[in-house]
Amino acid sequence: MLSPAIEQKLNDHLNLEFASAHLYLSMSAYFESQNLSGLARWMFVQYQEEIGHTMKFFKFINDRDGRVELSDVPKPEHQWEGPLDVFKSTLSHERMISNAINGLVRSALEANDYATHSFLQWFVNEQVEEEATAAGILGKLELLGDSRQGLYLLDQELGQRSVTAEET
Ligand code: FEO
Repeated sequence: MLSPAIEQKLNDHLNLEFASAHLYLSMSAYFESQNLSGLARWMFVQYQEEIGHTMKFFKFINDRDGRVELSDVPKPEHQWEGPLDVFKSTLSHERMISNAINGLVRSALEANDYATHSFLQWFVNEQVEEEATAAGILGKLELLGDSRQGLYLLDQELGQRSVTAEET
C-alpha cells in the first residue's frame, strides 16, 4: 500500500516520463524534417523507451494498490538549431530526470517505503546509461563539427538502433 504522498510523487514522475516520450517524438519529427532518417529512428526508439519507463510506473502504482492519475502533457519544443543542439537538450533533459529520480529515492527512504526504493533502483541504473549515451553522441557531434560526410555516417550508425525488451 502506498502512502498518499508517495503515490503523488510516483504519479508526478509517471507524467514526467510521459512528457519525455513526447519530447523525443518531437525530436524524431524534427530529424525527419531535416532528412536525417537515422537520427529520427534513434529518437523514435528513445520515445518508445520512455513509454516503457512510463508503463513501469503505471504497473508499479497499480501493483501497490495506488491510483494512476494522468495529467496534461506539456507541448514539447519542436525547433532546434541542428543535431548538436538537439543532443545538448537531450543531455540536459536526462540530467533533470536523474535529479527527479534521486529525489524520489530520497522520499522513499524517508517514508520507509522499501518496496518503492527497490523499484526505483532500476531507474537509478538506467539514468547512468541515459546520460552516458546522450553525452557520447553529443561528443561525437562536437568532433564532427561542420562535416556533412561525418554527419551522414553518424546518421547511418544511429539508424541501427532497436528497442530492447528490458526497456519496454
Ligand atoms: Fe526515462 Fe530517459 O528517462
